[in-house]
Order: sequence, then structure tokens, then C-alpha cells
Amino acid sequence: MQSSASTPSSHSDSPISKDKVWRVLIVDDDPQIIDMLESFLKFQKCYEVFKASNAFDAFNVLDQTVDVDVVLVDINMPGMSGIEFVKRLKERDRTVVAAIITGDPSMDVIIKAMRSGASDFLSKPFKFEQFQVALKRLVKERSILLENAFLTEEVKVKKLLEQMNRKLEKKMREQSILFTINETLAKTKNTSELYQTLVDLGASLLDSSMAMLWIKEEEADSLVMVASHGDVDRGLSEIPVMDARHPVVKVMKDGIPVLGRNPIKHEPQSGSTHGSDGCYLMVPFKIREEILGVLGISSQDIEAEVAHEYLFLLHILSERASLTVENILLYDSLFMNLHATLRALVRSLEAKDPYTKLHSERVTQWAVEVAKKMNCSEEEIESLTFAGHLHDIGKIGIRDQILMKPGRLTDEEYEIIKTHPVIGAEIVGHLGLLQLETAIIRHHHERWDGKGYPDGLKGDEIPRLSRILAVADTYDAITSRRPYRKAMSVEFACKEIIRNSGSQFDPDVVEAFSSIMDEKRRKGQDE
Ligand SMILES: [Fe+2]
Repeated sequence: MQSSASTPSSHSDSPISKDKVWRVLIVDDDPQIIDMLESFLKFQKCYEVFKASNAFDAFNVLDQTVDVDVVLVDINMPGMSGIEFVKRLKERDRTVVAAIITGDPSMDVIIKAMRSGASDFLSKPFKFEQFQVALKRLVKERSILLENAFLTEEVKVKKLLEQMNRKLEKKMREQSILFTINETLAKTKNTSELYQTLVDLGASLLDSSMAMLWIKEEEADSLVMVASHGDVDRGLSEIPVMDARHPVVKVMKDGIPVLGRNPIKHEPQSGSTHGSDGCYLMVPFKIREEILGVLGISSQDIEAEVAHEYLFLLHILSERASLTVENILLYDSLFMNLHATLRALVRSLEAKDPYTKLHSERVTQWAVEVAKKMNCSEEEIESLTFAGHLHDIGKIGIRDQILMKPGRLTDEEYEIIKTHPVIGAEIVGHLGLLQLETAIIRHHHERWDGKGYPDGLKGDEIPRLSRILAVADTYDAITSRRPYRKAMSVEFACKEIIRNSGSQFDPDVVEAFSSIMDEKRRKGQDE
């Protein structure tokens, strides 16, 4: 069942076809009038007739009939007048045309009929020529109204499509931004790198010229800018917490994002975001609900109307970054805990033997000094420090009788000792630690000439940090007391290392080591 009030949107190209049969509803309480009009209309063969004896029947017909085009209605009917009926009919569907049938076509009646929304009136008794002309007029008006409604509907649909397209584009842009955020943050390994990534992302995602991140250390009395992008105002590098009206301090305190007018200073008096200098946007940077700092961007190009959308993106960015920081901190703390535990294990192992006490600590110090001399990167030095502390952890798997044997080792015992780099690498490797650290440990007894163990690697095949560790390890062994000999002098140890350059040791490492020792000697002489 279709209501007569249905819109013509269901029509495909144009609402009117050439062979259209017009549907005419005749509403009159006089059956003779209905019969007469029906006969006439049927004779014309281009009309389909529907009938009702009063206004209420007429609405029933309209409810059950598809798209009545024309309604001819008697002005005087029991229950509801023709004028009232037309008024209600037009409220239901403005495209249906109606003509009032009246035996008294006075000016007053005509005006009332027109006001109700009727398009014409038919006077009784009917003159069929006039009736035919009136019908043509009514049908034409119906055509025009349908065409207009169709066009209006088309415009509406077009507007709706444009709106949906804009929403879709916005959604896609947001999705691509979220993807970029996740992808970029996932690659971040430490907090300082993350801070810089955060401001760079903030600036690029929001097409902004400036982005800043302030962090407040515990107990500190100011927020310090830890990362920035673009030409940032130097006055913003440190903001006192006391400056309560400063937007950065406000965000830090309230945890509520703000949107303000440039430049970033005290809150704008008007609260307006309009202005030639653009806007600034700030969001809190939280970790586990605790506000750690404030992320802000500033741009001359952001219009106030769309700034709130940018605020949403900035908020998402800050939230994702918080999660990444949490993960980094969690990993760091697990890693540090593990390192501390293993280091304690090595110390206790070394403490059992007075001759090797704190050996790994000293070896690490020497190795790091040489690595710095050789311009190793910060990451390499970190790995070397980690591996240096644990390089002999594999000795855990070797019996005390062999480890602490006062005399020289038999060949068999020496073979057992030689397994400690492999055991050590396995221990550290099974804990899921980085490959580089595992490799340094495994190869710290390889020799430059390939005669070392466990794999007999040669020259550059041996990881550089293992080659550094080997020199430091030997130096500490020579200068430490052993059960079978006293500690040898620094000079002797240096000579031994230089003597084995190119055979046991990497010549470049020996050169760096010697130059450090020379410097120390000169310093000692000067003092
Ligand atoms: Fe070792």
C-alpha cells in the first residue's frame, strides 16, 4: 500500500511519460455528479477514475491508491467541506492538484478555494468544453509540480551525496592519519626519539608550521620544552608553573585541550579564535591518567571553524604516543631488571674467586673507553656495556673445581672453559635479548688470525665490539693476580697487547687502546 503523499523520488529520469494515464479522484456526495464526470473522463481514455462520496472516503482512497494526480471535489459535503479537504490534501502532498466543484462561483468562494490551495474551480452545471480546458490546465499544473518536485529532490540528493562524500573523505583522512601515527610510533625505540617523532607527526599531520612538547619533571617548577618542530619562540622553552594563566600551564593543570588565538601567550581576552595569526591547539600528554606534559601546535593556516577537528586528531596522536611511552618504559624497566639480575649473578660468580672479583666491571670500563676512542655510536656503546657486564656469564655452567683451580688447567679442563662464550650467548639469547649483545658475548674469545674460539672467526668476521672486548679482557687478566702468578704491570700488559696486534688482536683496536694508555701515562707524568 502506498500513500498518496509519497514523493516522486521513485521516478527514474523524468516523472512524466508521454502515455501517462492521469489518475483523477472525484469527491462528491451527489452520485449523479460522480457518474457524469466519470463518464466524461472515461470517454477521454487518458484518465483513470477513483471515486469518494465524502472527504474521509477520499482520504481512504488516497491512502490506498498510488499517486493520484488530480482531485475534483465538491465544495459542500457532509463532515468536511471541500475547501478544508483541499487544505489537508495539499498538506499531505503539494504536487496533487485540486479543483473545487461549486454551484455558486462567487468571488468570495473563489478566493477561499484558492487560499486553501485549490488550483481551479468547476462551476455547476458543467459545460464540458470548459471542463475539458480546466482538466488540461490541471494536468499541466500537475506535470509542472511533479517536474519541480523531481528537480528539488535531485538537488537534495546531490547535496546529500556531496555531504556524504565530505564525511567519507574526512573519515578516510582520519583513518590514514591514525595508520601513520601507529606505523611511525611503532618504530620508536626510546622516549627522546618518541618526543621528536610526536612533534614532527603533529606538525605534518595538521599541516602546521610549529609543534612543541613540554614535559614537567616531578617536583620541577617549570614545564620544559623537550622537543619542537619549526621556528619556535625561544620564550616558550621553559614555562614557569606559577604562570597559571599561561595556556600550557592550564592544560597541564586541568587536563583539558584548548584552542586559542595566536600567539601562544596568556589566554586571549575575547576567547575568539579568529585572527590573522591563526590558532594554537594544545592537548595534555598523559601516561596512565597522569598528566606528564602538553603537546601543542600552532599554525597561521588553521581556520577556527575546523580547528576543533584538528584538536581531535591531536588528542588521538597524544593518546597513541602515551601508549608507546608506556610500552617503552615497561620494556626498559624489564630490560634493566633483567640486566641487573644477570649482572648480580656474574658478580656473585666472580666474588667466589678473589682473583676474578669485579673482572667484568673493569673489562666493561676499559672496553667502553676504547669504543669511544674508536668513535662507536651511542647504541654500540650501550650494547657493549650490556654485553661487557655479562660476557663471562657462561661460566655459571662450569664446575667450581675447574674455575677456581689454583694450578694450570689440563687440556681437558681448558676445553671445558672454552665452552663459556657459547653457554653465555645461549643464556642471553634465550632471554630474547638483542642479537648484537648475544653475538658480542659468543665471540669475545675469537682471535684476529682465526685461531680463537668458539667459531674460529677471522678479522672483520668477528663483531667489532667483540674485538674491543677481547683487548680489554686480556688487559684485565694480565694486570690481575692469578692463583699461579702475581699481577703483571701495566707496561707489561701494554707490550703484550701490542706484541699480539695483528695475530690475536685487531690492530685498529690495539692502536686505540695504546693511544688511551699513552694519554694516561702522559697525564700521570704531568701530575
Ligand atoms: Fe671470557
